[in-house]
Amino acid sequence: MEPGSLPFGEYVTNDKFVFQRIEDYWRRHAETLKNFNEFWDGVASELEWFEKWKNLLDDSNPPFYKWFVGGKINLSYLALDLNVKKGRGNKVALIWEGEPVDGNGMPLEVMRYTYGELLREVNKAAYVLKRLGVGKGDRISIYLPMIPETIIFMLAAWRIGAITSVVFSGFSAEALADRINDAGAKLLITADGFWRRGKIVPLKETADKAVERARSVEKVVVVKRIGLNNVPMREGRDYWLHDLLREVPSDVFVEPERLESEHPSFILYTSGTTGKPKGIVHDTGGWAVHVYATMKWVFDIREHDVYWCTADVGWVTGHSYVVLGPMLVGATQVVYEGAPDYPQPDRWWSIIERYKVSVFYTSPTAIRMFMKFGEDWPRRHDLSSLRIIHSVGEPINPEAWRWTYRVLGNEKVVLGSTWWMTETGGIMISHTPGFFLVPMKPGTNGPPLPGIEADIVDAKGESVPPGVKGYLVIKRPWPGMLHGIWGDPERYKATYWARFPGYFYAGDFAVKDQDGFIWVLGRADEVLKVAGHRLGTYEIESALVGHPAVAEAAVVGVPDPIKAETPVAFVVLKQGFKAGPELREELRRHVRNAIGPIAEPSTVFFVSKVPKTRSGKIMRRLLRSIALNAPLGDVSTLEDETSVDEARKLFEELK
Ligand code: WT7
Repeated sequence: MEPGSLPFGEYVTNDKFVFQRIEDYWRRHAETLKNFNEFWDGVASELEWFEKWKNLLDDSNPPFYKWFVGGKINLSYLALDLNVKKGRGNKVALIWEGEPVDGNGMPLEVMRYTYGELLREVNKAAYVLKRLGVGKGDRISIYLPMIPETIIFMLAAWRIGAITSVVFSGFSAEALADRINDAGAKLLITADGFWRRGKIVPLKETADKAVERARSVEKVVVVKRIGLNNVPMREGRDYWLHDLLREVPSDVFVEPERLESEHPSFILYTSGTTGKPKGIVHDTGGWAVHVYATMKWVFDIREHDVYWCTADVGWVTGHSYVVLGPMLVGATQVVYEGAPDYPQPDRWWSIIERYKVSVFYTSPTAIRMFMKFGEDWPRRHDLSSLRIIHSVGEPINPEAWRWTYRVLGNEKVVLGSTWWMTETGGIMISHTPGFFLVPMKPGTNGPPLPGIEADIVDAKGESVPPGVKGYLVIKRPWPGMLHGIWGDPERYKATYWARFPGYFYAGDFAVKDQDGFIWVLGRADEVLKVAGHRLGTYEIESALVGHPAVAEAAVVGVPDPIKAETPVAFVVLKQGFKAGPELREELRRHVRNAIGPIAEPSTVFFVSKVPKTRSGKIMRRLLRSIALNAPLGDVSTLEDETSVDEARKLFEELK
C-alpha cells in the first residue's frame, strides 16, 4: 500500500455488528484523552488490587514513567484465584492440543484445565520454584515450547514475584545463552523436546549447550514433554519436573505476593537497529490494566467465547494475549503445540471447528500461507463459530484481509489488524468491537485505542496531514508501556525518546487516511520483519562476521510473498576463502546455528566490497535494489561506485 492516493480503500460493514460513525468515535476518543487520568483510573478500578494506587501516573522523571504508584497487585491472583472466587472454578481455562495425530488426523493428546485445576498446578509450580531458591525479583529463563507447563510456570513465577525471561524455543543455544547472561537468570526451565511437523526437536540438547556458557544458571528444571530416554541430566544441576512435583504437598497453597505495581513481571528480548537484542522490561500493574482493557475492547470477550491466539509464548503476543489476557477476563482458550499445516493444511480449521473458536488472533504470514494452500481446506470445516478475527505482527495486505474476511469470516465477522509492539505491552491501534466499533477497511490498523494518543510526524516531529507518510509516535505514556531496557537506562532513552523529544518513537513508517485511521507501512529502521518476527540486520551481520571465512557482511530484507520479508546477505570473504555454493550453504547454516532458523538468509551473495556511504553506513537501499535487480536510484553518496557494479555483476552470475 502506498500513500498519496486518498481515499484509502472502501468501508466494509456487516449486519452482525453495530458499526458506529467515525466522527462519534473521535469524540469519545477525545474525551478519554481530555479526562486521561479519570479514564485510566476507571479502567484500572475494574481489576482487583490488594492496595489501591496513590498516584495514577508519576511523570516527574520522563521517560521513566511509573503507573499506579503505591498500588499492590498480583497477576497470578487475578488470572486464577479471582476467577475461582467468581465461580469459574469449573470453567475450562485451557484446552491444549499436542501436535501428533492418529490415522484419521485426530489429535492424540488433548488436555483440558479448569481454572480450579490451573490454580492448583500453578501453586505446585510456585512451591517448586521456592524450593529451588527462587524468590521475588529473581530472574528465571524459560526455554519451553507451547505446552501447558510454559503457562503454568510463567504464572507461578509472577505469583511469587520472580521475573520471567522467556526465550523462543526456536532460538539457538547462543541466543539463549546471551539472554540468560544478560538477565542474570539463576534458573532455567526447559523440556526434553517437542513436536514440530512430525519430528522431535531435542530442546534439552540445545539448552545444555547454552548453559555451558551461562554463568548465572544454578539449576535447570526439565519438563518431560516427549519422554525421550537418553536425556543427559547433570547431577546436582538438572531436575526432572515430575521428580520435583512428587515432593509437593497435594493441597499446597502459595500465597500470592502483594507486588508493587511497578515490580517487573517480565523481560523479553527484542531486536533493534544496533547491538545485541535488548531486554524490554514490563511492570505488573500497568501491564495488567492495559492487557485487561484490550481483551475487552479489541476481543470483546464474553463468558461463552472460545478464544485462540496462535502466537508462541516466546513473543510478546504470547505473553499478553495467551498467558495473561484471556485469564484476566476468565475466558476459555485454545493452545496448540505444533505446525499449522501438520498433518495437512487444514489443521487450524479443524481446531476452530472442533472447539468452536469464536475469537481468533493470528498473523498475516499465516494467512498468506493458507491462501496459497487454497480455500478448499477451510471450506471443509464449519467455521461459523468465528465472530472476531484480528491479525498482528506486520501490515496485512488488502488481498489477505479480503480472503480472511470472505473465506474464514463468511463476511460476518469483525476483522482487524492490531498494531503494537514488544515495547508497548499491549494493543495500541485497532478496531474495538467491545468498545465502539467503526467501519472496517481492508489493510488498515484503524484508530488509536481509547486513552492512547498516537500520531504521525515528519522528521522534525510535526504532525503530518492525512495522506503523508511519516513516523509513528505515541505522544503520551500508556499503562502497558515498557519500563526500560534491562540494565541499560541510557539505551532506553536513546532508542525510544531521543529522536522526537517527549514522544515515544516506534520505529515504524505510517500514514493516516482521511478518517484518521492509521496504516502502518513497515519499519523505518534497520529492523526486519520476517514472517512477523523481528530481527535486526546488525544481529545477522554479527553472526556472519563470526564465521572464520567472513571479513565483512551486510544484510537487507527483500520482499517475500508469504513471509513479507526475508534476509539476504552480502558477504566479503577473507583472503584464502573461495566463494561457492558450499560456503554459501555453510554460512546460511552458520546463521541458523548462531541465532535460529528464522534468521537464516534466503541467499548469500559473495562480493568484494560492501557499498557504503562516505560516512561509513551500509547502503542498504542500494543492496536491496541489487538483490531485486531494480533500478539503483541515487548513488551520489556512494564511496566507491565499482562496488555497485561488481555486486550487480556477481548477482547476475549467481542468479
Ligand atoms: C513491529 C513490532 C505486537 C506483537 C507482535 C510484533 C510491526 C506489529 C502490526 C500491524 C503493521 C505491525 C511493526 C512494529 N507490526 N503489528 N498490525 N500492522 N505492522 O511485536 O516483534 O515487537 O514487532 O511489528 O513494524 O513496530 P514486535
